[in-house]
Amino acid sequence: MEVLTTIADVRRRLEPHRRSGRTIGLVPTMGFLHVGHMELVRRAREANDMVVATIFVNPLQFGPNEDFARYPRDMDRDQAMLRDAGVDILFAPPVEEMYPAPLDTAVDLQHLGSMLEGERRPGHFRGVATVVTKLFNIAQPTRAYFGEKDYQQLAVIRRMVRDLSVPVDVVGVPTVRESDGVACSSRNVYLSPEERAAAPVLSRALAEAEERIAKGQRDFIRLRAHLEAFLVREPLADPDLVEIRDAATLNEARAESEAVVVLLAVRFGRTRLLDQRVIPLPRSS
Ligand code: PAF
Repeated sequence: MEVLTTIADVRRRLEPHRRSGRTIGLVPTMGFLHVGHMELVRRAREANDMVVATIFVNPLQFGPNEDFARYPRDMDRDQAMLRDAGVDILFAPPVEEMYPAPLDTAVDLQHLGSMLEGERRPGHFRGVATVVTKLFNIAQPTRAYFGEKDYQQLAVIRRMVRDLSVPVDVVGVPTVRESDGVACSSRNVYLSPEERAAAPVLSRALAEAEERIAKGQRDFIRLRAHLEAFLVREPLADPDLVEIRDAATLNEARAESEAVVVLLAVRFGRTRLLDQRVIPLPRSS
């Protein structure tokens, strides 16, 4: 595995592969890798001739009171994991390489980027869409891999690719979970042992939603209230976002939606965990 830190080196290194028609799979990450990231790499490895991973903790997507400075980092461990998984190129640029001067240009999704998580974290999806656009322009991948856990992020990237005609196939990869159902996340390391023990309440709430929907519940306002009450029964859980939306558009869920997505963001102390589940609504014929 080659470790590159400049845009020019990535372009120079990938150009002959692109010219000879080899496919390139891109796995953008912010590092501190876990098995969820390695599943993205595995999927990229099985479908592409070349795999490029990136590690860049992107300051643009963190708000002023968020965890940019304390975001966990372990470059040596990450490199060993990526090398073992058969990654060909790791692009790990310093901030000055990606943003040598303050940007005057941003990729901003006016509707999809400002609802839900975007409302709670203003500017977050502008930061994500802008850095992902840059990474796409740098690596020009055939396919790019993102986790479904960050459901709105995946929707934002798919929409950005569609709106701007970016020639990349965006692949969503199902959430990888620990044995007690907690979704793998770099932020899980922030949890105290007590908070970690409380964290499975998210996946239990998702199972509860699925069960109620399977039993025919279509009053999503009531279901949302029920899920909020379900979550706060866990004393360490402080729900920040509990929403049931149309899985395709992220607009309000309707009984006619083909599938809904339950989106959760729950604080445990200073740590905010996300989880989601897509639940199809069977047509009653
Ligand atoms: O999901 C992440 O790790 C980040 O938001 C991404 C897509 C790498 C952009 O910085």
